[in-house]
Amino acid sequence: MTVDFTVTRNTNPTSPERRAEILADPGFGKHFTDHMVRIDWHGDHVDSGEWSNAQVLPYGPLSLDPAASVFHYGQEIFEGIKAYRQADGSITTFRPEENAARLNKSAQRLVLPELPEDLFTEAIRQLVSIDADWVPSGDGESLYLRPFMISTEAFLGIRPAHEVSFFVIASPAGNYFGTPKPVDIWLSTNYARAGVGGTGEAKCGGNYAASLAAQLEGEANGCKQVIFKDPNRDDAIEELGGMNVFFVFADGKIVTPELTGTILRGITRKSIIKLAQERGHTVEERRFTLEEWRQGVASGEITEIFACGTAAVITPVGKLKAADFEISSPSGEDGGAVTMALREELVGMQTGKVEDRFGWNV
Ligand code: COI
Repeated sequence: MTVDFTVTRNTNPTSPERRAEILADPGFGKHFTDHMVRIDWHGDHVDSGEWSNAQVLPYGPLSLDPAASVFHYGQEIFEGIKAYRQADGSITTFRPEENAARLNKSAQRLVLPELPEDLFTEAIRQLVSIDADWVPSGDGESLYLRPFMISTEAFLGIRPAHEVSFFVIASPAGNYFGTPKPVDIWLSTNYARAGVGGTGEAKCGGNYAASLAAQLEGEANGCKQVIFKDPNRDDAIEELGGMNVFFVFADGKIVTPELTGTILRGITRKSIIKLAQERGHTVEERRFTLEEWRQGVASGEITEIFACGTAAVITPVGKLKAADFEISSPSGEDGGAVTMALREELVGMQTGKVEDRFGWNV
């Protein structure tokens, strides 16, 4: 599919001095580049409508009707993908076709129109090209891209919207949690993130909204992140508020909760499985219970735990805290050798320091 993007340059862009100041300490999700992408869709049915009006335009507020259905019924999905500065100055993204495919899976679940994959990747290419000066080059830094799709039709009846827009915005990013030290995690027992047949697997805003009360509870108990289990499936561990989780065993085995439909299909998760297998680890995707966590740490069988996602990359997990018990951290302050080796290899591949053996960089 060839779509021509109309490009309207920002006539009042951030000054080079201010941009340098931002890039010196980008944090996460706080600053945005000078442009964004917008593509509109119109149709009576998700299978028969049309995408049009592809444009790169100055970053800025949207004007939406207060009755736009996204405000009422939450037809919204998003993605997270990073652009990296390579040593030779060029810029790559990591497995963008995986994000395109996942966006469309989320679209199916939320009855939003699918976006042709080449239109998705072209949208990313357009934005990264025009805002190339915003891609940082420091250690652990990247330009975080946030593609998202919302229903814009002004209509209060409950049915899939006939008007939808897709956007991409970009934000320079440092490490999500600062220096990668183990983060303590709160076990949510009062709240669930997802249920069987629900939207757990889709990357939709509602899942993240549903995680916030638990996140606050975790913060009140000194934890940076919260982990959810599925109370209907034998207390199986699922995922964190915005990350998948892995358990490393003393015998080299690595276990991660299986994709049951209630867990996000992490692209970092999928990449880690491949890299770990290549390094000789046996990776099991299966049901993993709280009891196994407790016993594994107590016996010394579990030696490391880490969480992963596009934003957080690979972050070591420390203690698990709950209302009435605590499981101690299996690894030391450095997060553990397997975790850090996987992190180094993944980031190395993304930034060109390690050979891209699988053609993941685009
Ligand atoms: C990501 O890792 O890209 C995410 O979407 C997690 C997040 C910051 C919500």
